[in-house]
Amino acid sequence: MDKYEVIAPCHFGMEAVLKREVMDLGYKITNVDNGKVTFEGGEGVIARANIFLRTTERILLKVKSFHAETFDELFESCKNIPWEQYLPEDAKFWVAKANSVGSKLFSPSDIQKIIKKAIVERMKLKYHTEWFSESGVSYPLRVSIIKNEVTIGLDTTGTSLHKRGYRKYTAPAPVTETLAAALIMLTPWRTGRILVDPFCGSGTVPIEAAMLSANMAPGMKRKFTAGEWTNLISGKTWKEAYTEAGDKLSEPSEEIWIQGYDLDPEIIRMARRNAGLAGVDRYIHFQNRDIADFNTHKKYGFVISNPPYGERISDKSEMTKLYQTIGEAMKRADTWSYYFLSGFEEAEKYIGKKASKNRKIYNGMLKTYFYQYMGPKPPNLKGTSSVRA
Ligand SMILES: C[S@@+](CC[C@H](N)C(=O)[O-])C[C@H]1O[C@@H](n2cnc3c(N)ncnc32)[C@H](O)[C@@H]1O
Repeated sequence: MDKYEVIAPCHFGMEAVLKREVMDLGYKITNVDNGKVTFEGGEGVIARANIFLRTTERILLKVKSFHAETFDELFESCKNIPWEQYLPEDAKFWVAKANSVGSKLFSPSDIQKIIKKAIVERMKLKYHTEWFSESGVSYPLRVSIIKNEVTIGLDTTGTSLHKRGYRKYTAPAPVTETLAAALIMLTPWRTGRILVDPFCGSGTVPIEAAMLSANMAPGMKRKFTAGEWTNLISGKTWKEAYTEAGDKLSEPSEEIWIQGYDLDPEIIRMARRNAGLAGVDRYIHFQNRDIADFNTHKKYGFVISNPPYGERISDKSEMTKLYQTIGEAMKRADTWSYYFLSGFEEAEKYIGKKASKNRKIYNGMLKTYFYQYMGPKPPNLKGTSSVRA
């Protein structure tokens, strides 16, 4: 194979951020849809996408898309796919996940069974055998059927990409690493500018920001399912991608000023340990501090944070007071820009100020909002850009 088309799912609403990441890696986008970006490249695309992309959960190697409204159609179209080009004779393969939206075929377990059966039939013809040991390497499949359009992909990632490996200690109600990275990349914050997360919990936002500043590829320390697919991607290709990630890792060219605060001293200890595991602890200052004490003589800083919002931690009645305290802190540093991910519907009311922008974001199953309060631009800052939120 010399061209690989891959699908990268992302949080709904974060497609533009992911698209920009993919283009920065040098790949051609073939489609952008709700919650996913599709692109293509040569043999290196799977390794590089898994190692470098910050805002996707996994990379699927697209095998085929087709229309199916009956199980017969699903079976036949699936049997016609040249599976022998993807799966060696001893491959262990199964449909790890099937989902269906607005389609005639909707039972995940039946979809899984039919597809597996169709692949086996195809493999029998091509490998001239009736029995497959499945003793080899794993090739998990993922299938989505949206409005009767079936898309079959091979999961090249395995454990989700948000599991970078550094978050050994988690505070209650953490954001995923991929969402934290996407939120940061939605703002105009860049290395060299001040960043504070006053509700840092496990440290996810400061750690992701520091990784960005150090050009640290999020997947450079982990392995992926497709790392074993020697029939599709050579060991040399993987080695080159990991080496590229190592070469790109650099001391930031500008001063890094990233801080994380939390009310809970034990949580601050966890955040420090996580930052150490990520290898970015020297770039972040963590401190046990109450938002009520937030004050600064610095100007034009950024707050990117995920304050408590009642559903999972704290009592809802405490929320009004907390958001009033946030509003007071914002008044004390009125040249700063503030970005809050919160599920508290009345956040703006109690902060006492309407956000310049607001967008709905699902944090897992929870409906949250990304409240964006853009402060004034520093007088000496020209040409900064962000993906428009
Ligand atoms: C939703 S969690 C943040 C999770 C974090 N984004 C992560 O990924 O782990 C909110 C955090 O705010 C902290 N917190 C609660 N009240 C606070 C206050 N008054 N000042 C500072 N931190 C506070 C909690 O201890 C908790 O760790």
